[in-house]
Amino acid sequence: MKDPGESVACLPKIDGHHALFGALAELRERAAVLPVDLAEGPTVWMVTRYAEAKQALAHPDLVKDYRSVADRAGGFGRERYRDDVWALLGRHAVNSDGADHRRFRKVYAPFLSATKVGRWRPQIESIADAMLERLSRAESPDVLRDFAEPLTATVACRVLGIDDELADLMSDYAKRVVGGGDPAEVSSAAAEWAQLLAELVLAKRRAGDELLLSAMLERHRAGEWQLSEVVANLQATLIAGLTTSSTLIAAAVALIGADDGPRAEELGDPATVSRLIEETLRFRPPVVDSTWRFARHDVLLGDAVIPAGSIVLVSIAAADHDPDAFDDPGAWCPNRSARPAGHLSFGYGEHFCVGAALARLEATVALPALYQRFPDLRTRQEFHELRWTSAIVEQRPLAVPVSLGPS
Ligand code: HEM
Repeated sequence: MKDPGESVACLPKIDGHHALFGALAELRERAAVLPVDLAEGPTVWMVTRYAEAKQALAHPDLVKDYRSVADRAGGFGRERYRDDVWALLGRHAVNSDGADHRRFRKVYAPFLSATKVGRWRPQIESIADAMLERLSRAESPDVLRDFAEPLTATVACRVLGIDDELADLMSDYAKRVVGGGDPAEVSSAAAEWAQLLAELVLAKRRAGDELLLSAMLERHRAGEWQLSEVVANLQATLIAGLTTSSTLIAAAVALIGADDGPRAEELGDPATVSRLIEETLRFRPPVVDSTWRFARHDVLLGDAVIPAGSIVLVSIAAADHDPDAFDDPGAWCPNRSARPAGHLSFGYGEHFCVGAALARLEATVALPALYQRFPDLRTRQEFHELRWTSAIVEQRPLAVPVSLGPS
C-alpha cells in the first residue's frame, strides 16, 4: 500500500486545526483524487473536491467493511493507525455495507428521523437549562466542557435509554477514543469502554424500555442482531454522536466570538439559527475526513483510478471549502443563504449521518438558550487561537473559555 505508483503527496501531522485547511487547499489544487501519505498513518487515496467527494461517499465499490476487501485492504487491521478504531471496533452501522448495514440502519431510523427527534425538544430544552446552571457555577467557564459536552452526552443517553448519571463518563470515554491519541492507548480505552457498555446492555436486557438501546436488544431477541453487535452499535453511536455535536455548538459560540456575531435577539429567529448552524458545519466540519473506506475493485473517480484494496478517505473539510461549490469558502458567513451545493458535513448517500436531525435540534435549542441566559457572554480567545485535537477523522476544540458577564 505504500507504493501507489506515481508521486504521493504528504499531509504532515499538522499542529493546529486551522493550518489543516491551508494544507488541504494545496491538495485540492493539485488533484480531485490523489494518493496522500498521512503522517503516522497509512497512505490513502484522498478525495478533495466537492463533486468527487459526493460520488465517493455514495460509491458502491468504496466499502466500509475492510474484511470484505481482498488482502484485507493492504493489511489494514494488522498495523495500527491513528483513528483506525472507526473501522476495527466490532461490527456496526459505520463499518458495514449492503444488507448488514441496512439491518443495522433500519433500527436507528425510526428513532432518529426529524419527526421523531422533534418530540425530544422539551427534554432538550430542560437539559439545556440544567447545563446553563452548570455553566453559571463554573469557576472558569468553558462553554465546551461545562455546557455543550454534558448537554449532548445527556441527550444521547436519554435517546438511547442510559442513565443521566453516566453521561459524563460516556463523554470522557468518547473523547479518549476519538481524540486521535496513540493507537494502543485508544484501543485499550475503547476495549475498557466496550466492557462497561456490555454490562450496561446486559442490565438493560433485564429491564427494558421503549428507547433505542432496547430496540437494538429487541432485534437480538428476534435473532437478527448478535449481542456483540448491540454493544458495537451502542459504542459507535456514542463515538459518532457525542463530541461531534458538542463541537458544533462550541465552534458556533467561538465563531460568534467576542463582540460582533449574531446574539440573543437575532438568534430568536429560527431561520437565522438554522443558517448559522449550517454554515458552522460547513466552515468547521467536526468530521474532517469521512470514516475509512476501502476500494473493493479498481475505482474510476474523477480522472484517477483508485487501485483495488486501497484505503480511501473523503476529505469533507476540503470538499466543504471547494471554491467550485461555495463562494468565498474560507469565510464564515453566518447569513450565507441556501447554495446550489449543500455541505457534506453529515456525509452523503447510504451512510448519511443518522443523527443529523438530533444534532441540528440540539444546536437549535442550545445556542439561543445560551445567549438568552447570558446576553453578555464573550469568548476569551479568538477563534483562530483555539487549540484542537489533530485526529484524522474527527477534530474538536480542547476548550472554549468564555466570560459570562453579569448574570
Ligand atoms: C454535528 C454533529 C454530527 C456530525 C458532524 C456527524 C457527522 C457524520 C458523518 C460525516 C457521518 C458519515 C460518515 C461516513 O460516511 O464516513 C455520520 C454517520 C453517522 N452518525 Fe453522525 N454526526 C453528528 C451527530 C450524530 C449524532 C447526534 C448521532 C447519534 C445520536 C450520530 C450517529 C451517526 C451514526 C450511527 C452514523 C453511521 C450512519 C451509517 O453509516 O449509516 N451522529 N455522522
